[in-house]
Amino acid sequence: MSFAPGILEGKSAVVTGGATGIGAHIVRMLGSLGANVGIVSRKESNLIAAANAFKTDNDIDVKWQVGDVRDPEAMKAVMTSFAEELGNIDILICNAAGNFICPTEDLSWNGWRTVIEIDLNGTFNCCQAALPYLKEASDGGRIVSISATAANFGWPGAAHAGAAKSGIQNLMKTLAVEWGSYGIRANYVSPGPIEGTEGVDRLIIAQGKSEQVLERIPLGTFGEGKDIANAIVFLASESGKYISGAELAIDGASQWVR
Ligand code: COA
Repeated sequence: MSFAPGILEGKSAVVTGGATGIGAHIVRMLGSLGANVGIVSRKESNLIAAANAFKTDNDIDVKWQVGDVRDPEAMKAVMTSFAEELGNIDILICNAAGNFICPTEDLSWNGWRTVIEIDLNGTFNCCQAALPYLKEASDGGRIVSISATAANFGWPGAAHAGAAKSGIQNLMKTLAVEWGSYGIRANYVSPGPIEGTEGVDRLIIAQGKSEQVLERIPLGTFGEGKDIANAIVFLASESGKYISGAELAIDGASQWVR
């Protein structure tokens, strides 16, 4: 643990897509540092399994809600329930995402639309739904969205995810300006290749590209989920109070997409 114990005591956080992958690492870190955490995703079985694992492995009690980030009305209901259950929403982590590799010339309209709706529209829906509660956060509400360093360049085979993750970046910059007067900070973390995620397991390792990618990472290794979680805590805690509209890239200076 890199942070002082209890630094998030009294804070309430919602992590979208918090049952699996990077989201689960973020939940463990926020919960271990004292935050009350709520998680939302589509599959009830994932939520139950994750809640049990957080309790058994880390002694963290999370609240969970089933919901699809693509549905704005559902997200309003989910955020209202979380605000009641957790006491408020001080921290919103927009992490839920979908992606698959498909050359743009073969990508169906529905394939394009689906990823834009989950990644970009879902982030918008959750930010707007959580706004009334973020406004009430005593030390200023915090939004941290997960983008991707690949969105800063061309992302072959992921035009939908690249466009959505770029869109998230500008959305965070805009919310930083529009909602700054509410005390809300809006930032984004851009992961590079993080081990144990679908992005690395399915899109790199399964395709036999590990060595090729590692050669392009100056720090010589894939990142870990906790590297992303550490960045989230930095931005969501007192340490990040004067940071808004910013990107924090967590990629070992990776050159892999260029
Ligand atoms: N290649 C090409 N098209 C694909 C595809 C692939 N690998 N995966 C999905 N699509 C297309 C589907 O064919 C469909 O388009 P169509 O109706 O024109 O055929 C469209 O995308 C929607 O797919 P569907 O599976 O019905 O949507 P969904 O809402 O159930 O799930 C995803 C969307 C992105 C979550 C799903 O594709 C998925 O499970 N991806 C892998 C898991 C993942 O994304 N994890 C997060 C990693 S960041």
